[in-house]
Amino acid sequence: MFDTKFFPGAKKFWHMGKIYDWDSVHVHAMSHAVHYGSSVFEGIRAYDTDRGPAIFRLQDHIERFYLSARTINMKVPFRDAEITDIIKQVMKANKLRSAYIRPNLFFGYGNLGLVPKVCPVELTVACWSWGAYLGEESLEKGVHTLLLNRRRIHPSQMDMRAKIGGMYAQSNIAGSYARSQGYDEAIFLNMEGRIAEGPGENIIVIHKNTLKTNDESESILPGITRATALELGKDMGYQVKIGPITVEELLDSDEVFFTGTAAEITPICRVTVEKENEPNKQAWKTHLIGQGKPGPITRQISEAYEAIVRGKETKYNHWLTYVYDSMEEMKTQLA
Ligand SMILES: Cc1ncc(COP(=O)(O)O)c(C=O)c1O
Repeated sequence: MFDTKFFPGAKKFWHMGKIYDWDSVHVHAMSHAVHYGSSVFEGIRAYDTDRGPAIFRLQDHIERFYLSARTINMKVPFRDAEITDIIKQVMKANKLRSAYIRPNLFFGYGNLGLVPKVCPVELTVACWSWGAYLGEESLEKGVHTLLLNRRRIHPSQMDMRAKIGGMYAQSNIAGSYARSQGYDEAIFLNMEGRIAEGPGENIIVIHKNTLKTNDESESILPGITRATALELGKDMGYQVKIGPITVEELLDSDEVFFTGTAAEITPICRVTVEKENEPNKQAWKTHLIGQGKPGPITRQISEAYEAIVRGKETKYNHWLTYVYDSMEEMKTQLA
């Protein structure tokens, strides 16, 4: 039995053409991706709307999924319309109204040399109910982050636009370290000593009426939520700038927030700066961002985001893909 404590609502998943019960396991331990992280994945959310569950910015996620696959020379044995259809099937099979959806393409069982010469490319899609990524209170109260000394992978080393499983070892280590030190999340510096991103989140800083964020040349994955927040900011009449963010700029901001499909719009209210060669954390300095609580522009963007993903703002309904073709189908399936 697989405990679903951390996968609430998960009942079924899809693997290479079939829907399986959550408990069934059939990926061999010698699969290439298990050893070398030779997989690519997406993190997508579906939200409950008046027309049933709607997947947010699905086409953008699918495009990035293909881009990620190209960066590791993986030929995807599915067309994008098929992947859309599979995602809808998985949502329906789990009868969820809102969910986090995880498609994963990986090199499977074949050979175990570093080059996956004869490993088939396999696709799995799962979904479950995932609440606020950084904790139930994070969206309302904001989070306390640790600005690490560690440098994010540089874009000259890996294509930062891709979500490659193995690249997440760095996020995993940094996220666990920040939590082990008592913080909610980490922030990476880049090789140049400027702000990069969180382990699974982008960062937007606000000074007066300007929203600013960095791009992939600064060692970030350019996120879909980041693009959404910038578009909303622009539509609300704020200035939007793309460029490098220095440490001083982050710490002096009026407001700062994380963006991410999992983290959504999470205010950052405190930043502690890890001091180089100083293991005693009493010596690390903590900075309040603004008043040390979520600021008004962050709230405005977060509320707009919440409304849009739930289909309450018709102007942005083109970002929604409904899981059910009709209200009748939705009502009978979810009854
Ligand atoms: C490293 C990293 N940065 C940023 C993001 C935010 O991207 P998105 O808003 O597309 O979820 C993610 C999540 O996918 C991520 O893994």
